[in-house]
Amino acid sequence: MNNEDVRVGVFVCDCGSNIARVVDVPAVVAYAKGLEKVVFADEGKWSCSVDALSDMQASIKEHNLNRVVIASCTPRTHEPLFKQTVKEAGLNPYLLEFVSIREQVSWVHMGEPEKATQKAKDLVKMGVAKAILLEEGEEIRLPVGKECLIIGGGMAGMSAALNIAQQGFKAHVVEKEAELGGLLNQVMTVSHDHIKMPAAEIVKAKRELVESHPGISVYTHAEIESVKGYIGNYRIVLDANGEKRDLNISTVIVATGMREIELKEGLFGYGKDPRVVTQIQLEGLLKRGELGDVRDVVMMNCVGSKNEERGCCSIGCHVSVKNALVLKQLNKETHVHILYRDLSMVKDEQIHLQAAKKSGVKFIRFPDNRYPEVTEEDGRLCVKAYDLLLGKELKIPADRLVLTVGFTGDETVDAVRGHLKVSANREGFFQERHIKLGPLDFPADGIALCGCAKNPKTLKETCEEGIGAAMRASIPMKNGYIEAEGIVADIDLADCNSCSICWKRCPYGAIKVSEDKKPQVIKALCKGCGLCAADCPKECITVVHYSDAQLLAQVEAALEENPDKKILGFVCHWCALGGVDMAGVSRLQYPTNGLMIRVMCSARVPIKLIERAYELGAAGVLVAGCEFPTCHYITGNYACETRIGRARKKLAKKGYDADKLWLTWCSAADGPKFAGVMRNMVKELGLSK
Ligand code: FES
Repeated sequence: MNNEDVRVGVFVCDCGSNIARVVDVPAVVAYAKGLEKVVFADEGKWSCSVDALSDMQASIKEHNLNRVVIASCTPRTHEPLFKQTVKEAGLNPYLLEFVSIREQVSWVHMGEPEKATQKAKDLVKMGVAKAILLEEGEEIRLPVGKECLIIGGGMAGMSAALNIAQQGFKAHVVEKEAELGGLLNQVMTVSHDHIKMPAAEIVKAKRELVESHPGISVYTHAEIESVKGYIGNYRIVLDANGEKRDLNISTVIVATGMREIELKEGLFGYGKDPRVVTQIQLEGLLKRGELGDVRDVVMMNCVGSKNEERGCCSIGCHVSVKNALVLKQLNKETHVHILYRDLSMVKDEQIHLQAAKKSGVKFIRFPDNRYPEVTEEDGRLCVKAYDLLLGKELKIPADRLVLTVGFTGDETVDAVRGHLKVSANREGFFQERHIKLGPLDFPADGIALCGCAKNPKTLKETCEEGIGAAMRASIPMKNGYIEAEGIVADIDLADCNSCSICWKRCPYGAIKVSEDKKPQVIKALCKGCGLCAADCPKECITVVHYSDAQLLAQVEAALEENPDKKILGFVCHWCALGGVDMAGVSRLQYPTNGLMIRVMCSARVPIKLIERAYELGAAGVLVAGCEFPTCHYITGNYACETRIGRARKKLAKKGYDADKLWLTWCSAADGPKFAGVMRNMVKELGLSK
C-alpha cells in the first residue's frame, strides 16, 4: 500500500470515568484529528463494550480505515479483543496499534490533569506515527499431531498422562528414577481429612492406572538427550535404561517436580549432627521405621526460605503440622515443638492445626530476625528460641531437630530449559507464560507446565494442575493445528554479509544457515523477541509489528516537542510492561515525563534508537525488561544488558552523558519499583515534574 493511501482511525476511550476523570478526552480526540493520515477520531464511553465494538467496526467500514489506533487500557489485557474486532471488520489485525492511556496516564497522574492530557496526546501521536508504517502480518498455522510427552512421572505428570490418554491421545511419560511417583515416593503420609493417609497407597493406585493404560508409554531411568523441532513436530531422543528412543511428539508437558534446597553444612547442626534432619528426611525415617526412640522433637520452620533469596515455601507450615501430628499419633508421649515465624495455613489446613494443638503440639513464635540457636547440653540437642508471645528465651531439649527447609526445582531444570528453550526463575522453578493469563503455559507454543515444577504446592493442587496442563496440551492436538503469533523476524539477504551474529545469538535456534552461509528464519520457531534485529550490524533484519522504522517513528514523534523534559522508555511487553501496569492498577503516582514504547523483549532495543533519542535531545532514556533470569525469551535480558553496556561506551565516546541511559529489571508485580525508577530519573536528571 502507498503511504498516501493510509487512512488512520483513532478511538479514544473514556473507560467510564477511569480515563475521562483525569484526561480531557475530547481534547485528545480533537488533537488526533489533526495528526497526519488520521481521517477519523472518536471518543468512546466504554470502547470494549459490545455496542462500542460494533460501532468501531461500522466506522472502519464507513471511513475506509486501513489503520486503527486504540487509546484505552493496557494491551496486555485488551489487545486480543480489539485485534479480533478489527479482523471481523475486514482489517488485518496487525494494522492495529494500542496506546495505553489508563495504566500509563490517568491512573498514575491523577492530580495533574493538564499534564496527563498532554501525555495522552503524545502517546496517541506516537501510536499514529507507528500505525502509519504498520504492515499486514499473518498467523502461522502449523499442523499438530496427537502424541504428548510428559517430562516427570510424579503425581502431576501421572495426572496429566492419564488425562491425555483418557481423551484418546498418546501419552509418553519420561521418568528419571526407576519408578513413577516422584517426591511422594519419599513421603510417609499425606494430609487428608484424617491424618496418616499413606503416601505409598496413593502413589500405587495412580501408578497402576498409568502403567495399565494402553494409551500411555512409561520410560523409567530415562532422560532427554535432544529435542529438535517445534509444536506439532518435535523430534525427541530419549535415553531410557541405556537404550535410545526416537519419538515424534506434538506437545510437551513439563512436570519435573521439586526438591528440598541443599542446606549449608553446619547450619543448625545440619550435616554434622545426624540428629538434625529435614522434613523429607524425617518422612524417610518414619517410612523405613528408623526414627528410633525419641521423646523430644523440635521442628524449626522457614529454614532457607522467606528471606531475601527466596519467598515463602508455601507448604512448610502445613508439612510441619502434618508431621508433628504423625509423631503424636505414633506416640502421644512424644513432646513436639514447632518453632515458627508466621503460620500460613489456609482454611482446609486449619483442621490439622487445631488437631495438633489439641494433641499437645507446642507452637512457639520466634522473631524474623532472631532465629533459634542450636547447641548441645548433656549430650542432647538444646534449642534456644526467643518466644515472641512470652517475651523470653526458652531452652528446649531435643532428640531430633527437624528443619522445614524451602524448595527448589528438580536438578534437571537446567537441562530441560536448554532442550525446550523455556525460562526458569531465580528460585529454580520454571516460569509460566503469565501468572494469570497463562498460568499453565510457557511462552513457547505447545509446551505446558504443572505441579511443583512451577512452585511448591499441595498434593491436591499438584494433581489439579496436572489435569489442567493436560487440557492445555490437548487443545492443539484436538484442533489438529495451532496458529502461532505472526510477530516474527524476517531477513533481507540483499545486504546480509553472513556475519553469523543472528543465528549464533537467537535464543531459539530459529535461524538456520544455508551452505552458502545465508541465514534464514524458521518462522515456526521464531518467537519475535527481536534480539537478532537489534544486533544485526547490517540492519537487514526486521520484525513484524516492531520494525526499526516503526520504533524510530515512535521515538521521533515522542521527542518532537520539549524533548529536554522527556524520558523515553522502552519496556518489554511481559514483565516490564506488567510492572508499568501494576503501578497503574495500584494508583502509584509518579511524574508525567516518561513516554513508554512497547517492545516484545528488552533485547529488541537497538543502540541506534537510543542514540537517536540522545540526538533528539531526550532528557533520559530508560530500557526496562524482566528480572534475571525470567526473560520470556530465555536470554533476551542478558543480551540487552550486554548491549546497553556497549551503548553507554558508544554514547560516552560521542560526547553524550551516558548516565542518562538507565536500565531496570522488574517483575510484573513491581509497580512500586517502576514508579520509583520514574521518580528517581526525574530527580537525578534534574527535571521539573
Ligand atoms: Fe522481558 Fe525479555 S521479555 S526482557
